[in-house]
Amino acid sequence: MATNRTFSMIKPDAFADGHTGGILTMINEAGYKIKAIKVIKLTDEKAGQFYEVHKERSFFGDLKRVMSAGPIVALVLEKENAVADFRKLIGATNPANAEEGTIRKKYAKSLESNAVHGSDSDENAALESSFFFSQFEIV
Ligand code: CMP
Repeated sequence: MATNRTFSMIKPDAFADGHTGGILTMINEAGYKIKAIKVIKLTDEKAGQFYEVHKERSFFGDLKRVMSAGPIVALVLEKENAVADFRKLIGATNPANAEEGTIRKKYAKSLESNAVHGSDSDENAALESSFFFSQFEIV
């Protein structure tokens, strides 16, 4: 069942470069309401747990290192058709392929440091949200 919610992270590269405000503005202007937000720093181990689905991939070690390099902003966002529309808003995983007007086109530096994460399904949105937030922290 569609929940109209998605999970997002502003990644360490974008947070460190001061793009949190700009990214949140793009998210709000696209019609999303913030249901939960926190700044948190992942350990290498926690980053590995979050991205466990990629553990056999060649880039897993780099992914853990990049995602634990500094603070991130964890977000639960709400809007109709949240998951699919957010994937469009952030653009292609590799910013070289991201369309004009997308968050990654504007703020991502590379495939590894691609500014934001967005859930790829309603099921993963719920799982990823509960990785960072208890039910009482989501309004
Ligand atoms: P994200 O959408 O957060 O999901 C997994 C992340 O792995 C992805 O963004 C990229 O930042 C990162 N990544 C690094 N290398 C690759 C790769 N070769 N293919 C896909 N994702 C990669």
